[in-house]
Amino acid sequence: MDRIAVTGGFALKGSLPISGAKNAALPLMCAGLLTESALTLSNLPHLADISTLKSLLEGHGAETKIEDEGKKLGEGQIISFTTPAITNTTAPYDIVRKMRASILVLGPLLARTGEATVSLPGGCAIGNRPIDLHLKGFEAMGANIELEEGYVRAVAPGGRLKGGTVVFPTVSVGATENILMAATLAEGTTVIENAAREPEIADLASCLIAMGANITGIGTRTLTVEGVDKLHGTEYSVMSDRIEAGSYAIAAAMTRGELELVGENLLEVMTGTVGALHEAGIEFTETDQGVIAKLASDKIKGINVTTQPFPGFPTDMQAQVMAMMTICDSASVINETIFENRFMHVPELTRMGADITMHGSTAIVRGVDQLLGAPVMATDLRASMSLVLAGLVADRQTFVNRIYHLDRGYERLVEKLQNVGAKITRDSGMGI
Ligand code: UD1
Repeated sequence: MDRIAVTGGFALKGSLPISGAKNAALPLMCAGLLTESALTLSNLPHLADISTLKSLLEGHGAETKIEDEGKKLGEGQIISFTTPAITNTTAPYDIVRKMRASILVLGPLLARTGEATVSLPGGCAIGNRPIDLHLKGFEAMGANIELEEGYVRAVAPGGRLKGGTVVFPTVSVGATENILMAATLAEGTTVIENAAREPEIADLASCLIAMGANITGIGTRTLTVEGVDKLHGTEYSVMSDRIEAGSYAIAAAMTRGELELVGENLLEVMTGTVGALHEAGIEFTETDQGVIAKLASDKIKGINVTTQPFPGFPTDMQAQVMAMMTICDSASVINETIFENRFMHVPELTRMGADITMHGSTAIVRGVDQLLGAPVMATDLRASMSLVLAGLVADRQTFVNRIYHLDRGYERLVEKLQNVGAKITRDSGMGI
């Protein structure tokens, strides 16, 4: 296994390209299953999750073609997905267990063929993560759902889903995306109440509209979809990754540097994150090609944050903000309300000298003067990034192990950070 070695104490300066958003790219790729024509996606990040989903889609009958590899740092790939026919309606355990987002093929497969069988994703590092909301949504659209041998089988009587009213008791990004995709080809009107409002949902809806779908209410709690008989192909560019951008804004502030984050509409999609980072003392200035992030004074201020669905503070930024708070000027309180068990970075940050006390789903972080480099273990994607951030300011070297988590969500992280002055390497085969 590889590991990342990072030596702290170097201010990051320069321009850093923000990649296409993984969490937007994955549902967009699944949307390709809804039509027999080509869906060509650009600005797709080079990430393990993208390759995993590409294989899954090929297993369902998608013909994929890499139109442009996008070799320059930060340049996305362009891939076309053409699915003349769904050749297999089962998403196997082998792939689904690797990537929970595989559940997003359920809606498109069911909508296009009237049936789908998808392995239950199982637990994951940041909690139980059930899929009951997805299933209740499909039931409200007339599907019969059965669970057998670790698989969920959904069948639409008569081969087509029917429009219905889906009321989510809890906001779910994935369930909103799954139902939204399925509703585009359902018979009649579907209303999704308490829909997630994350920018990635708006990105998906915009692409579906470009494919011929009829969707209103984008960006609000209620999405209304008039089903159509057929969708067609289109070309669509994936939005910039707001979580990657937020993570690097924190890197700039923690190292007392200044980074220009290059990407589209960053401040707009970073609502929730920007508010918290601003309170911590980070200043954002828009430029022609993105936004400059730096600390306004020489201090990082302690803040209190609670994770919430968009437009609140995102759970996907919680670990990185905690890393920043470990060196703030006072104490801060971080409340996690979206996922249980999403504090696995706490013991690792503590090993680096952070002062963190846990009370259930609340962490109290008291700023220390200096973190200390240590060998640490990455546990999930965002937790891994929090350890890299801590390493960028720690005394001496930090070795981050199990970096396959980072490969799932941060495109060419080491190169991007090296380019702006970080002392960081990827050591092949040296991890544990
Ligand atoms: C997506 C993001 C992930 C982010 C999360 C919350 C992708 C690929 N992943 O995950 O990075 O952290 O949104 O912003 O976009 N829940 C249920 N039943 C369900 C579905 C969800 O109880 O059927 C619960 C979850 O356990 C969690 C909460 O709802 O407590 C929110 O989860 P959800 O928004 O669905 O997260 P994902 O779509 O899996």
